Amino acid sequence: MTLSPSSPNTEKNNLSSSFAKDILAGLEATPKYLSSKYFYDDKGSKLFQAIMNLPEYYLTRSEYEIFESYKTDLYQQFSKDVKKFNLVELGAGDGLKTQVLLSHFVEKEIPFTYLPIDISAEALHQLKSRFDKTIPSLNFEGIEGEYFEALANLKAKSSSEKATETRNIVLFLGSNIGNFGNENSLFFLKELAQNLNQDDYLLLGFDLKKHPQIIKMAYDDASGITKAFNMNLLKRINTELDANFNIEKFSFYSTYIPETGEVRSYIVSEAKQEVALGKLNKTIHFEWGETIHSEISRKYSVEQMKQITAEAGFELVKSYTDCKGYFMDMLLRVK
Ligand code: AVI
Repeated sequence: MTLSPSSPNTEKNNLSSSFAKDILAGLEATPKYLSSKYFYDDKGSKLFQAIMNLPEYYLTRSEYEIFESYKTDLYQQFSKDVKKFNLVELGAGDGLKTQVLLSHFVEKEIPFTYLPIDISAEALHQLKSRFDKTIPSLNFEGIEGEYFEALANLKAKSSSEKATETRNIVLFLGSNIGNFGNENSLFFLKELAQNLNQDDYLLLGFDLKKHPQIIKMAYDDASGITKAFNMNLLKRINTELDANFNIEKFSFYSTYIPETGEVRSYIVSEAKQEVALGKLNKTIHFEWGETIHSEISRKYSVEQMKQITAEAGFELVKSYTDCKGYFMDMLLRVK
């Protein structure tokens, strides 16, 4: 399973590319869907940066606050009973939140290495340039590749060292776990546990269930950036599959379902219309009001996350939350 945002230019987009296959499968399905992993081309990544700065999108600020408040405590937990540790980040993005921890650890001259894993060499390069400027003495070892392959290699490397030597600590932050469907999040966490050694850690950031209105607003901002983030996927399909989506004839709808904890986002056809996918020689028909499901952003209760992580093979070391109780980072240990 590829879990990193996909890079737009690595494959030719004829029918044999996975982008083309996935898009066609989703648009030919009933009801229609598109995978949110395809949001993150260059433009989409910039739009996501803008989302993280929105007044309504509290998630990033909350996790930032947690790291600022608990960086000393986190260090004490990370280094308990070991000489040094590796911070292995999955999907680091612009690294702004992680920078709070990294700067603190470097200032305190703590022996650790930062290893972000990303499928995109360009993303790693950008991250490295940023940290070269902001934290020049950081030990940075970017790993280009798939998450689980890279983790399996790290596991093998550290199993051959003495158990008390180095702890691998995986950072999976920002509520990225919420973008998997239910079964996939359990599958992902199980796979993660299997690719770590006993006593290795996972720092898992996730969004908590709260007043539905607060959650709803975070995914339907007044300035329309979240809409643009969704529409950008249609633009990407236009560019890469030679399609002719008329962006003016589509809108955005999102809803929060308190019972399941899911924010569900949709692109909506504002007309009965046909869209051609030129490169694939296919035409897709849309009814007025027909939806394309584009993303799930799941919210959890503390109990739910305790249960899922326990089932996946982790035990809770400690949990951290922001002053409003909106967001949580759980520090988990492999059983
Ligand atoms: C990346 N992910 C955790 C974001 C979220 O909150 O689900 C993506 C996002 N979609 C709309 N706004 C933000």
